[in-house]
Amino acid sequence: MERRCLTAFTILSLVCALVSPVSTAAAAEKIRRYELERADQGYRLALRSVEAPAPKSNEVLVRIRAVSLNHRDLYFLKGVYGGDSSGQVPVSDGAGEVVALGPGVQRFKVGERVATTFFENWNSGPPTPAAISRSRGGQMAPGVLSEAIVTHEDGLVRIPDHLSFEEAATLPCAAVTAWNGLFTHGHLQRDQFVLLEGTGGVSIFGLQFAAAAGARPIITSSSDAKLERARSLGAVATVNYRTHPEWQEQVRAATKGAGVSHVLEIGGKDTLPRALASLGLAGHVALIGGLTGFEGNVEVGAITDRLGSLTSIYVGSREDFESMNAFISRHKLKPVIDRVFPFEEAPAAFSYLESGSHFGKVAIRL
Ligand SMILES: NC(=O)c1ccc[n+]([C@@H]2O[C@H](COP(=O)([O-])OP(=O)(O)OC[C@H]3O[C@@H](n4cnc5c(N)ncnc54)[C@H](OP(=O)(O)O)[C@@H]3O)[C@@H](O)[C@H]2O)c1
Repeated sequence: MERRCLTAFTILSLVCALVSPVSTAAAAEKIRRYELERADQGYRLALRSVEAPAPKSNEVLVRIRAVSLNHRDLYFLKGVYGGDSSGQVPVSDGAGEVVALGPGVQRFKVGERVATTFFENWNSGPPTPAAISRSRGGQMAPGVLSEAIVTHEDGLVRIPDHLSFEEAATLPCAAVTAWNGLFTHGHLQRDQFVLLEGTGGVSIFGLQFAAAAGARPIITSSSDAKLERARSLGAVATVNYRTHPEWQEQVRAATKGAGVSHVLEIGGKDTLPRALASLGLAGHVALIGGLTGFEGNVEVGAITDRLGSLTSIYVGSREDFESMNAFISRHKLKPVIDRVFPFEEAPAAFSYLESGSHFGKVAIRL
């Protein structure tokens, strides 16, 4: 029954959109989407049938074809961030096609393939309170685990032609974060050593970007099998952080003692001191995540002795996303997707991400 609603919605939307670029006729149709519903611990994903949204001025209606999961989506599901997320549509990253335009839309045409930006209205330049006020998939702006969304046209980018919807859906958060850490803030150069921690979404994009730029990626993981896979993507050295708890020693040895020029720091409390010990002269640490916690002490001398610099990264702007897409297109990079789940099995996709079994990204097809 719900599947029939979607089919009717899609056909009607496309017909209306083709007849007139300004369409609200799909509003009475039904779509399916997931919403967060209170559970014993945090929330659970509840599949709902709701009225299809209609685009208002400067808004675009997008038929979502795929989404990808980020660690942040797990944090919302578990209620880690506090506040009330009941009824919120989860997941920040999606890709699909434009099916209708509200009045005044300039940047898109019906039928174009697009991805959502992480922030609905951070267009370019440095972050401002307004620019980072509407992150998708949390309490600030609705997410994309929905058969259709409306969004301001500023909150979309065209996707590279060589990517599928699943591949494009992996880009908005993890890839833009890795891009900004390495290029916008790190100014990565050829032959420099880059340290990536673990083999999740951000780190595998960091590995691919560094390798494509002619730099020398070094990566850690809890799994030898994953490290083997990372070598096939261009890692010049690998360290198992479980069997080598003092892994910074292996990292420095891999650089012949010089240390790395860049770190994408996703681990926080347990990894930051080791990342700093791995750093070479004038090295740059992009502070991204706190998988092991955010508390603890930082040894200031470990930074100043090396003339190092640290930048906190919060994903990035639409302009960053577009610059990254140009690089991805130029190098014909293909995001690494570990598994794609059907829409109906979205809860299993979250559990799979939580298990940490994945290498790269986990996607859901709609
Ligand atoms: N600031 C931002 O804008 C931003 C953007 C994106 C993500 N983040 C944050 O960055 C972190 C990673 O996000 P993600 O989406 O890439 O996560 P993810 O895909 O779930 O990756 C998690 C992976 O991290 C690795 N890991 C876990 N503990 C580790 C440790 N102690 N040392 C080294 N690696 C470890 C594991 O890799 P192995 O299985 O190989 O061991 C695990 O599979 C999260 O905290 C997330 O919230 C922040």
